[in-house]
Amino acid sequence: MKPKLQVALDNTSLSQALESIRQIGHVIDVIEVGTILHVAEGLEPVRCLRALYPDKIILADIKGADAGSLLAKQCYGAGATWMTVICCAEIPTMKGMLDVAKETGKDRDVQIELYGDWTWEHAENWKKAGLSQVVYHRSRDAQAAGKNWGEEDLNKIGKLCDMGFKVTVTGGLTIDDIKLFKDFPIYCFIAGRSIRNADNPEMAAKSFKTEIDKYWGADSNE
Ligand code: 5RP
Ligand code: MG
Repeated sequence: MKPKLQVALDNTSLSQALESIRQIGHVIDVIEVGTILHVAEGLEPVRCLRALYPDKIILADIKGADAGSLLAKQCYGAGATWMTVICCAEIPTMKGMLDVAKETGKDRDVQIELYGDWTWEHAENWKKAGLSQVVYHRSRDAQAAGKNWGEEDLNKIGKLCDMGFKVTVTGGLTIDDIKLFKDFPIYCFIAGRSIRNADNPEMAAKSFKTEIDKYWGADSNE
């Protein structure tokens, strides 16, 4: 399956996020309400985007850490398809979210955001608990401190794929980074700033799609 293109709306206001999505909504596969936008506007962006895009996958990137089922009821109730949980959350928190996801609809799901010091034992436990999606993340702050994608990242991504996870990659991705991951069955590429802040966001989103087609095949989606 060809990787999906997810755009992260880490805008600091709903009006800016709507201005971004107006330019690219027809090109991308998954709309993410970014953590930064959630902090600014709560769940209202999810409600607005669901009203505008009834058939799109909408991700609420809340990076939840506790009170899993309560947070999940709010995210899915607002119209989210997927939501995120931070990797250091406990298994009952993740399970609480996943149970609400599956009660709400079979397309609903939870993505585990991988930051910091998670272990392979944690990954085994996520699998055993029924979690299937992970987001391999280079943090904004690590990127700002000069961290680039490297061999260690690729080895971990390969191992997560081999374990059977749907692996999404993100963190300051540019079009030139896409080819680094060409040997893996990446589930989604998430790009935020390199699409939203481009001179022409629509062209930037289309160029990401063309680059994905180049390595995973133009006809192989879904
Ligand atoms: C940061 C995030 C961002 O949404 C993700 O990194 C994508 O944004 P960008 O491409 O601008 O880094 O979750 O914590
Ligand atoms: Mg995000």
